[in-house]
Order: sequence, then C-alpha cells, then structure tokens
Amino acid sequence: MTKIFAFTNNKGGTGKSTLCSNAAHFTALTGAKVLVIDMTSQTTCSSLFMGTTNGLQESETVLAFLKKRPDRHIEDLIFESKKGLDIVSSHVSMAEAVAQLSAMQMGKEGVLKREIERIKQHYDYIFIDSPGDLNELTANALVPATKVFIPTRLNRTDFQCTETTINFIKEAENFIGARNVRVIINMLDDRYLVNGVWSNSHTGALYKQALQTFGHILSPVTIPDSTDIRTAFDRGLTVIEYKPSEVAAKRIQELVHREVFSD
Ligand SMILES: Nc1ncnc2c1ncn2[C@@H]1O[C@H](COP(=O)(O)OP(=O)(O)OP(=O)(O)O)[C@@H](O)[C@H]1O
Ligand SMILES: [Mg+2]
Repeated sequence: MTKIFAFTNNKGGTGKSTLCSNAAHFTALTGAKVLVIDMTSQTTCSSLFMGTTNGLQESETVLAFLKKRPDRHIEDLIFESKKGLDIVSSHVSMAEAVAQLSAMQMGKEGVLKREIERIKQHYDYIFIDSPGDLNELTANALVPATKVFIPTRLNRTDFQCTETTINFIKEAENFIGARNVRVIINMLDDRYLVNGVWSNSHTGALYKQALQTFGHILSPVTIPDSTDIRTAFDRGLTVIEYKPSEVAAKRIQELVHREVFSD
C-alpha cells in the first residue's frame, strides 16, 4: 500500500520543505518509487528537484487541478527529477488555488486526494509539502495523508502554532478519520545533550517542555541546526548528496528509517 505523508505546521519556516525534500530524497535513494507533491507558493521542493521553476506555466503545476473543473490531471504534471524521484510542482501564485478551492461548494478538501487516487499505484511513498498556514491547501494535503509530520523548532511560538496545527488535524479527523501525527523537532541546538542527558540549559528545559506538551506523538528523532543543510539547499542539493557522512544526513536517514519505513 502506498504511504502518503503530509508536512505541515501553521508556523512558517519550521523546516517543512527542508524535511520533506530531504526525507523524500533519502527514501528514493533506497530504491523506493517516490513522488513529491508541492502545495506551497515558495516552490522550495519543486525548485530543488526540477532545478528551477522559473518560466513554469500555471497549467504545468498543481494549479491545473486545484479547481472545480481541472484543466489537466496529475498524471500529466509529473516531472521526472534527475535526483531519482518524481515531482508535481507548485506555482508562485498558489493564492489563486486557495481562492479557487474556497469558491467550491462541495468536496473542496478532497481535490488532491482524488488526483492522487489516479496515480498512487505507481508509487511506494508520496510526500506532500504544505504551506505555513491552515487553509484549503493544507486541508487538501491532510486528507490523503496516512501520516502527518509537524516540524517545529524549540521555542514557545513554534510550540503554540504546533498545538494549533494538532487541534486543526483533530477537528479534521471528525470528518476524515484518525491520522498518525508526529511532531519533529528541527533545528535543534543539541550541544548541551551529552549521552542522552541535557545539562542544565535553556534548550534542555524547552526540550522537556516539548516532551510534556506533545507526549507520545513527539518523534524521538531530532534534526540538528546544521549549516550543511542550509548550504546543501543553496547549492541545489539535499544534505544526503552534499555531506552524506555528516550528522545532519545521518539524522535524516534515521528519521526515514524510524518514521517513513516503519509505522
Ligand atoms: N535543520 C536545519 N538546519 C539548518 N537550517 C535549516 C534546517 N531546517 C531548515 N533550515 C533552514 O530554515 C529555513 C526555513 O526552512 P524551510 O523553508 O524548510 O521551512 P518551511 O517550514 O518550509 O517554511 P515555509 O512555511 O515558508 O514554507 C531555510 O532557510 C532552511 O534552509
Ligand atoms: Mg516551505
């Protein structure tokens, strides 16, 4: 059965696109058939896997089907990335998709799911990147997802937004059924974590707060704040391509083994 993952958080800049693209790429490098669907106007995943999104027409992106009467269906929008996975691109004007979906009377949250049904038999894993907002695009990403990843940084604002996101998913579950939700701490400064024990630091106290707040849905895998991740992206690479033996790449691999390959 195809596993479908949505990366979401009401807060911008928590690492949704970074974790989505890096986890998808590592998964594809193990030989699995992977599709990434970009639902964001930043087009981060699309640019990384396609090289560029400059000059892409709206009709070549998810905008073609995120509407009442699709111009094209998803199978016509799949781009084969040189990095060994497939990508369906977003477009800089995704606000248009929000407006188009909002105007629909019925079934507006299920548009992406219906498109995915057309092609999912070709893939082992589908990764959906969603915007830093709880809107129609986010709802469309959540409906088909078998598992939802919520990246968060270790600070109070991110925690509040993460809780809002969890509540949004819980409300949606009344209509779409239970979702397996995992909170992933990203950009963690774990200098003060020695042999699994935090020394008395502000970061350690916040980590304990995260454990209390999110409990069993908090993933044990954390992703460090890493210049390798940032530099890799600036060079059009994932961290697995850029520095495969460094700690950030190892954590992404651990994340995939723990949260993508197992349930
Ligand atoms: N673990 C990390 N270490 C260092 N930098 C990171 C890490 N994760 C993400 N970043 C950087 O943080 C910035 C925001 O990341 P990203 O674009 O993935 O967030 P996002 O949640 O997708 O944002 P948006 O809500 O705008 O879509 C980027 O510059 C990215 O390179
Ligand atoms: Mg993003």
